[in-house]
Amino acid sequence: MAVPMIEAEDVVKSFTVRARSGALRRTRRRVRAVDGVSFTVERGEFVGYLGPNGAGKSTTIKMLTGILTASSGTLRVCGLDPSRRRTTLARRIGVVFGQRTTLWWDLPLRSSLALVRRLYRVEAAAHRARLAELTALLELEPFLDTPVRQLSLGQRMRGDLAAALLHDPELLVLDEPTIGLDVVSKATVRDFLERVNAERGTTILLTTHDLGDIERLCRRVMIIDHGRLAYDGGLDELRRTVDADRTLVVELARPAPPITLDGIEAERVEGPRQWLRLPNAANAAAVVAALARDHEVRDISLREAGIEEVLAGLYRGDHAYWCSGRPVAP
Ligand SMILES: Nc1ncnc2c1ncn2[C@@H]1O[C@H](COP(=O)(O)OP(=O)(O)O)[C@@H](O)[C@H]1O
Ligand SMILES: [Mg+2]
Repeated sequence: MAVPMIEAEDVVKSFTVRARSGALRRTRRRVRAVDGVSFTVERGEFVGYLGPNGAGKSTTIKMLTGILTASSGTLRVCGLDPSRRRTTLARRIGVVFGQRTTLWWDLPLRSSLALVRRLYRVEAAAHRARLAELTALLELEPFLDTPVRQLSLGQRMRGDLAAALLHDPELLVLDEPTIGLDVVSKATVRDFLERVNAERGTTILLTTHDLGDIERLCRRVMIIDHGRLAYDGGLDELRRTVDADRTLVVELARPAPPITLDGIEAERVEGPRQWLRLPNAANAAAVVAALARDHEVRDISLREAGIEEVLAGLYRGDHAYWCSGRPVAP
């Protein structure tokens, strides 16, 4: 059996935070930013890591990359303990933090990338070939000679991605790589990540707020909330299992009073158009058939709950679906 790319077992990270209580008193309090997280990521996977602000995503990533040491639990990345083998691991993984660049601010992008080669001790010929490939894929050519500080956010992110992948890492970890990017840059970054995963087989762990990133790229998602994994499984299963209602939009031949059907009632009426919310368990085909029998229907469309609504339900603390997908006990 091949060693998994990431293995986390009951990983905890607590911080001591000082809080003012009263005019002079200060109290110290331990906060569990990551509270007993276990998961495995196999080679070649593309996993989305989601959760509301402050859930513990960045803390997890900092532990995976050896920046922070776990308070307890075991963590292996490429079979190594990240905090003890940080330097060795750095040559095997790539990391991108959307909020902060790893490039040298005052140097042209080209020189920054040349320094990265030394840092990771990449052999010159291999570096040249890889740089040419990344330059083409990320369309870096027009700004290779521009100092990093003069790059737009989208250009800088493309530069950071190139820097993270120059040494051809086995694992790429991204913390909010599309934050603040314009639509075109976002599309470039997404296309690029998809290719890196599909063509080079690079394992990718992607933290993002952008659900478009997730829907486009990730087959599997892990959702963290208050430091605990709330879900680990397929995106489709998540959508199916969460009790996210679907909405039937019915266009009648003429305006009519609100429709009622087997306990389902129109929740909105606008002229001839009515919105019926279907509970998860309802059979849409049967409802449509009943509608057509009793009403003159011009058009019908079914709107599935988007991943956004699914997550909103999850973050609100509606935990019914925690025991589905690849479940994690709350
Ligand atoms: N260095 C730190 N010291 C104290 N608390 C921290 C520190 N880093 C993170 N936290 C806290 O841990 C929790 C998780 O933070 P973080 O991992 O950054 O969340 P996310 O990336 O999901 O938004 C938050 O409550 C945050 O305030
Ligand atoms: Mg974060």
